[in-house]
Amino acid sequence: MEIQAFGYLGIGTAKVEDWTGFATGLLGLQTMDRGGGMRAFRMDDRKQRLFVDAGMADGERLFGWEVADATALDALAARLQRAGVAVRREAGALADQRCVGGLISFHDPAGNRLEAFHGAQIADTPFRPGRDIAGFRTGPQGMGHTLITVPRIDTALAFYRDLLGFRISDFIRAPVAAYFLHVNARHHSLALVEAPHSVLHHLLIEYFSFDDVGQGYDIAQAEAERIAVKLGRHPNDLMLSYYLRTPSDMLVECGWGGREVDDATWQPHEMASVGSFWGHQGLFDTLGDGPPPGDMPPPVVEIQRAPLQVMEGNYERMSGVCPWWDAAKSGATGGA
Ligand SMILES: [Fe+2]
Repeated sequence: MEIQAFGYLGIGTAKVEDWTGFATGLLGLQTMDRGGGMRAFRMDDRKQRLFVDAGMADGERLFGWEVADATALDALAARLQRAGVAVRREAGALADQRCVGGLISFHDPAGNRLEAFHGAQIADTPFRPGRDIAGFRTGPQGMGHTLITVPRIDTALAFYRDLLGFRISDFIRAPVAAYFLHVNARHHSLALVEAPHSVLHHLLIEYFSFDDVGQGYDIAQAEAERIAVKLGRHPNDLMLSYYLRTPSDMLVECGWGGREVDDATWQPHEMASVGSFWGHQGLFDTLGDGPPPGDMPPPVVEIQRAPLQVMEGNYERMSGVCPWWDAAKSGATGGA
């Protein structure tokens, strides 16, 4: 299928200045003034990944999905149109504003504006983070993931999975229906949760450095009410993360160490719980009228720990050897 990555996110807000302070000082993004009440943010070599726009209605959002080239974009447009989806081929002026070579726009069944694009423009200056961080994990995995709530999960799945070609990583049917979908090695680029109202719940951005996540947590704790969900670790994408309130009615999940999936071997599976291994207190509260109120229930999955997911360059192996651990690791004692 054509879609390769989640490329950019646009948010309508009148609080452009508040967003700029938040995105640079807390998240570590680089701000780019686009003029006309629009502020764009870099998180890698691209000219923009996130943008906020006072010209869009408050709460409006749009999702940029990346395809390989103009041919793939044409193929996607044709397939959508054959399925009865209204597709608009956007003019060059909008492509310039999005810093891409070309794009189409259409809507998902919940009414979210989607844009598919190719040819993202690369900046001619290096990325300079808004605070001292080592950078973000993007590249072929895209800018991160989003979680949206949709009124009809079956309709959303028919659109994202069957028509757009997203693949299911894992899912849960009760107490709430939630599907985690991937388009590349990132465990999920989109999470769909069934709820009465259609909202963008959060954007995830993933840091290279574990310490950048911890230092961001320190900064956020200095602000009253900034942290919506405490530090914790998810059982499915294994992300270590916390969630921050933004100037808009949505959250940003700041994460590290997300797992990868390989389509050659990955099998979608149903989870017994979405309860975190530990932490993430407050997460269910933020999902509003979806799951039950209160803090996360204790996980009922049988496994409550998993190895850290690391990249070359951000870990060193310890040399110590402990006979007890070696035995536990190999299952000899059953103690691991
Ligand atoms: Fe997330």
